[in-house]
Amino acid sequence: MAQLIGGLGTSHIPAIGGAIHKGLQQDPYWKPFFDGFPPIRAWLGETRPDVVVMFYNDHGLNFFLDKMPTFAVGAAPQYCNADEGWGIPTLPPFKGELDLSWHIINTLVDKEFDIVTCQEMLVDHACTLPLKLFWPEGDCPVTVVPVCINTVQFPLPKASRVYAMGKAVGEAIRSWDSNKKVAVIASGGLSHQLDGERAGFINKAFDLQFIDSLESNPEWATQFSIHEIVEKAGTQGVELLQWLAMRAALTAAAPKVRRVHSNYHIPISNTATAVMALEAV
Ligand code: DHB
Ligand code: FE
Repeated sequence: MAQLIGGLGTSHIPAIGGAIHKGLQQDPYWKPFFDGFPPIRAWLGETRPDVVVMFYNDHGLNFFLDKMPTFAVGAAPQYCNADEGWGIPTLPPFKGELDLSWHIINTLVDKEFDIVTCQEMLVDHACTLPLKLFWPEGDCPVTVVPVCINTVQFPLPKASRVYAMGKAVGEAIRSWDSNKKVAVIASGGLSHQLDGERAGFINKAFDLQFIDSLESNPEWATQFSIHEIVEKAGTQGVELLQWLAMRAALTAAAPKVRRVHSNYHIPISNTATAVMALEAV
């Protein structure tokens, strides 16, 4: 059976793609963000996952507001990026892991999650940037199964529902008939609001409490309604639901997790950024 080795979380912001392209990792604005990654890359160098399951939200590249699935799973041999309109370079395609995609899809439907299945799927900055941040050198060494959770257009899935879906994905990974090593990734957040009266809103106290909860009290955030999460983390801060799915998946792998490393930095663009690695122990 496949091994679920751990989980990673990172913020995604289009400007990060621009900074990577321009080589600004040591620039004083960017350094505190990029400095969070080397200890996690070292852990990835030791553990060497073969496949990643990526929980993220599409921002209008693959799904626009006219058709917005709550949960969608990619089942494509490769995933192409395209011009998102942020001025960031378009990245080459990422390889899929078809067998795991279909195993996750079958498992989720069997567990009564009504998902959308995507045999073609464009992936935006939320899917591509984590792969570039965790594996910056050369071709991406892992294959990918994208799992898209709507945190963009209301109505959004409740935190408890996202948690249940993440757990089911973890169970699917664990029951996949393969000797490959799998890691789960969360892409999004933490607190941020890009528009409206509270544009620029950030809530450090809440973010840090949320990060700590992922280590020792994974269901903590399920106590909040979507409106409470928006209140505490901002309209786009609801992307923290992606982290909740990642953590829920790990409950299928091990009773506990070990925090390998985490970093929190405010702000990059309008966002409170975080990166974290959790090992299933
Ligand atoms: C920003 C943050 C996001 O999550 C995103 O998808 C786009 C932009 C930002 O802070 O600029
Ligand atoms: Fe986003």
